[in-house]
Parts: sequence; structure tokens; C-alpha cells
Amino acid sequence: MTADHYVPSREDHFSFGIWTVGWQGVDVFGPAVRPPMAADRAVRKLAEIGAFGVNFHDNDVFDFHATDGERDKQISAFRQALADTGLVVTTATTNLFGHPMFKEGAFTANDREVRRFALAKVMRNLDLAAELGAGVYVCWGGREGAESGASKDVRAALDRYKEAFDVLGAYVLDHGYGLRFAIEPKPNEPRGDILLPTAGHALAFINELEHPELVGINPEVGHEEMAGLNYAHAISQALWHGKLFHIDLNGQNGPRYDQDLRFGAGNARGAFWVVDALEAGGYDGPVHFDFKPPRTEDDEGVWASAAACMRNYLILRDKVRAFRGDPEVQGALAAARVDRLAEPTLAGDETWRDLVGYTVDADALGERGMAFERLDQLALEYLYGVRGS
Ligand code: GCO
Ligand code: MN
Ligand code: MN
Repeated sequence: MTADHYVPSREDHFSFGIWTVGWQGVDVFGPAVRPPMAADRAVRKLAEIGAFGVNFHDNDVFDFHATDGERDKQISAFRQALADTGLVVTTATTNLFGHPMFKEGAFTANDREVRRFALAKVMRNLDLAAELGAGVYVCWGGREGAESGASKDVRAALDRYKEAFDVLGAYVLDHGYGLRFAIEPKPNEPRGDILLPTAGHALAFINELEHPELVGINPEVGHEEMAGLNYAHAISQALWHGKLFHIDLNGQNGPRYDQDLRFGAGNARGAFWVVDALEAGGYDGPVHFDFKPPRTEDDEGVWASAAACMRNYLILRDKVRAFRGDPEVQGALAAARVDRLAEPTLAGDETWRDLVGYTVDADALGERGMAFERLDQLALEYLYGVRGS
């Protein structure tokens, strides 16, 4: 197998947030280590390394304080880079976390004026998103939360969160935009506790909205793993609900600060099952990376880590396909009775009445092994590279 096998093509539908490669490496203990990167440069370089699309926050393209003239100029440069490279805008989102006015939240800020401005800011960027052809609009509520108990009335905050999505839903419907919203859950950071902390919380919340059909989720690998959860399960459940509108792929080493490592780094075993879950089908959005090139890297390192996200996806995709296609694996799956779960527990014409007093040989069932270890070892051997390549 040649190295060229893992070169991305546009058909792979890889996309990146403009802010990922543009991240300057600011952290809590130190300032920027890299110069700012204009959105148009990010687009051109991403096209060069094989990406298909981009996602952007309004303020990745133009400054929060930009005049209309400056805004137009920056948007034109962005648009020109898209036209020159053929990269598409798959997704857009709003920066509702950077300016100090959002220190206490945006859609759920205690200050009503902050909430009203936040909605106006999103609406303005929805116009741009629609104009640039985005299909999904991500809403990451990083500042919606609290550090202390009495400071936030959580039930009132959820009322306002719902109100925000109801207003924005009406906005896209009234304008005839084809956009759908994707809520991005995160348990903490920058707030001590963020509202809608996991995929499950967000899925439940969506049911309370005026237009639930317009809203799905954008789960991020690292965010579910920060909560100790299994990302492959999260996206599988989201698919089951018809709610996987977008994905943020990256890497994380268990519950700690949000590492935003390149995809495939961190929990590599988890990444294998993420690709397996995506390969199983049902998701047709962009394969989107939301990572932060570590602070240790210079410009060259930024592009090396971006390219590695795609390369790792392709490597894992090969391994997953080889694993699923291996007759020994198919035998191990059968021995583990994995296929039996597809069979309904009751037969077509049965009701609960057929199970009243139902008996089994409990001890015999209890004695049966599940043969899962052999199956999982086969997967690990593909991952470790001693089988299939
Ligand atoms: C994070 C988040 C953010 C959001 C992005 C979209 O790492 O906490 O992923 O990167 O996805 O800002 O608003
Ligand atoms: Mn993150
Ligand atoms: Mn993200």
C-alpha cells in the first residue's frame, strides 16, 4: 500500500473551520504564538492540501468592530478565494463568545440587551451563510452557563434558549433559506458548567422547540469525551433520531481541558469506532474537523496537523473497511450474535400477553459466553497494523 493511498480528494468531503488553522495559540497562560491568518489565506491553503469545504464564524472573516465597508472588503476577499479554489461553504456559525459583552452568555445572558444583540448578530450572519450556500448553521453556546449556583436560573435560561431557536427558526423560514441549525454540546470550558452539556441533553431540548425539524446536533469528539462519554455512540444515537446534521471531528485524551487535538490523535481506539459508525451510513454531511494546531507549532506545523486530520481519517477508513470485510471478523461477529439484535423481541403478531410467565433455562443462558474479546482483539489488531496491511 503506497502513501499516496491516503491523499484526500474532494470526494471525501473534508471540511475545516476557518478558525482551526487560524488559531493563534492563545491560552490561559500565554498570548498568541502565531500571527493572525486572513480567511482567504486559510481557504487557499486548505484547498491546496485537499479539503472540500469550509465553515466560518462571522468574525473569522471580518472583525467584530468592522465597519460595513471593511466587512464587505473582507467578505469579497473570502468569496474570491472560494471562487478561485472551488472550495464550498458547507457550514457557518456565529462568534457569540469572544467579545466581553458575551462574558455571561448570549442567548441566555441575564442582560436582555445582550440577548437581543446576539439574535441580531446571528440573523445577519444567516444572510451571509445563505448567500454563500451553507446548508447547516452551527450554534455552539460556549458562554451559555455558569460558575456558581445562584447566578443562573437554569429553567429561565432554557426558556430563553428555546426562544432564541424559535425566533431564528422563524427567521430562516420567513426568508426561505434552506438552512438547518446544529446545536454543538459541550460540558464545560469556557464556562464552569455549560447548558446543553452533551448530545443527549441537546437532543431532548430540541423536542421542546417550535420547529424541531429545523434543529439537529453537531457533536464534537472531544466534547463528549470530556464528559467521559463514547462519541461513536453519540453519533449513532443522533443518526437514529435523524438529528446528526453535522460533526466536529478532533482528538481528546479523556476528561480534562478541551484539547482539540487533530483527528486520530488522543483516543485512537475511539477514532476507529467513530469512522466505523460513519461508514455504517446515514450521515451525508461534510466530514468536518474542528481542531486546534497546538501552541508548539509554527505555520508549517499548522498545515501538517490539518493534513494529518484528513490522512488519519483515510487511514482509519481503510482499516475499518478491511476489518468489516474480513471473513474472520464476520465469523467473530456471528459468534458474538451481533446480528441477532436486529430481530424484534416480539414476533409480529405477539403482544405482552405472550410473555406473561415466559420461562427460559436461565442457568444455561447465564453460562453462555459472548465471544466479544475475540471480536475486539481483531479490531485492535487492525488498528495496531498487524492485520490487513
Ligand atoms: C470548542 C468548540 C468551538 C466551536 C466553534 C463553533 O472547541 O469548544 O468546538 O470550536 O465548535 O467555535 O462555534
Ligand atoms: Mn472543542
Ligand atoms: Mn467544535
